[in-house]
Amino acid sequence: ASTRPKVVVTRNLGPETMPLLLERDDVEVVVWPEDTYCDRKWLLENVRGATGLLVMLSDRVDAELLEAAGPSLKVLSTMSVGYEHVPLPELAKRNIRLGYTPDVLTDAVADIAIMLALMASRNAEEVTAVVRNGEWPKRPWSPFMFCGPQLSASTVHPQRTAGFIGFGRIAQATLKRLVPFGLTTCLYAGNPATPADPAADAAHARAFGLPRVARVGLAELAAESDVVFVLAPGGPATRHVVDAAFLRRMKSTAVLVNAARGTLVDTDALVRALRERWIWGAGLDVLEGEPVIHADHPLVKEPRCTLLPHIGSASIETRQGMAKMAAENLLGGVLGHAMPAEFTG
Ligand code: DGY
Repeated sequence: ASTRPKVVVTRNLGPETMPLLLERDDVEVVVWPEDTYCDRKWLLENVRGATGLLVMLSDRVDAELLEAAGPSLKVLSTMSVGYEHVPLPELAKRNIRLGYTPDVLTDAVADIAIMLALMASRNAEEVTAVVRNGEWPKRPWSPFMFCGPQLSASTVHPQRTAGFIGFGRIAQATLKRLVPFGLTTCLYAGNPATPADPAADAAHARAFGLPRVARVGLAELAAESDVVFVLAPGGPATRHVVDAAFLRRMKSTAVLVNAARGTLVDTDALVRALRERWIWGAGLDVLEGEPVIHADHPLVKEPRCTLLPHIGSASIETRQGMAKMAAENLLGGVLGHAMPAEFTG
């Protein structure tokens, strides 16, 4: 048997990154050979005795998997910034280090958040279907057809407020993109475990060149925002933070964007909110139960909802950056070195 530490990788990370692992002679690399989700049975068998494990957000990491790896496991590296699929207490119990991929995907996800806000407010789903279904000749240009609320400030509506659930890197990169749209107010709901900090809010307002940045409660955020961005980590603490009560408080012209995790939004409540026009529209990159979302899902059929298959970070450059960072985190953990991005809570 090899004396080199074994690392298991649940997906081929592409020709730019795989050589970083495969060309080393101080680690043994085992890679799931298919271009599909890693098979659980294969993983449970192959992870035995591994020192490092590199996973995707689609892999279920749980006590069973960690037990199967055994006490040799020193590092878990996830090719994602999100860690909803990772049981942090189980890692802590076993002294397993966690690597993740912050920063490198911030801009790509912020781009998608803006795209979703525009698509939701300007009825992208409904209007592209008109063209695709050959109905354009029957619905020629007309003064008020297909109109939706404008994301940018205008002479008619000079005030525009964006609300952020979560105000970390991706939220702030999204805010930066909104400033040239003439945004006037940024409201955010931060981590309830940390105290409000008006001085930090004033500093943010200066840094973004905005009249007002303020941390507020969810009720005020819902009621005041023209667009609400959900950009907080998933997990039990944020489950269904956007629920029926939140959606009922939103303006009927406001849109909801979720580019974080599906679990933050109560799907049934959102279906009602769209059908009954409590809100204007929704732009979602993530959805509870993904990827098992079929064409008859109520949100897939909802004309005021744009739904993407979790592609927030899916630019070529970003995914290559994430793969490389995940591989370097894995090696750092296995060889006992610093990791480019170690999650420390
Ligand atoms: C992540 O890295 O957590 C993102 O959801 C991927 O798009």
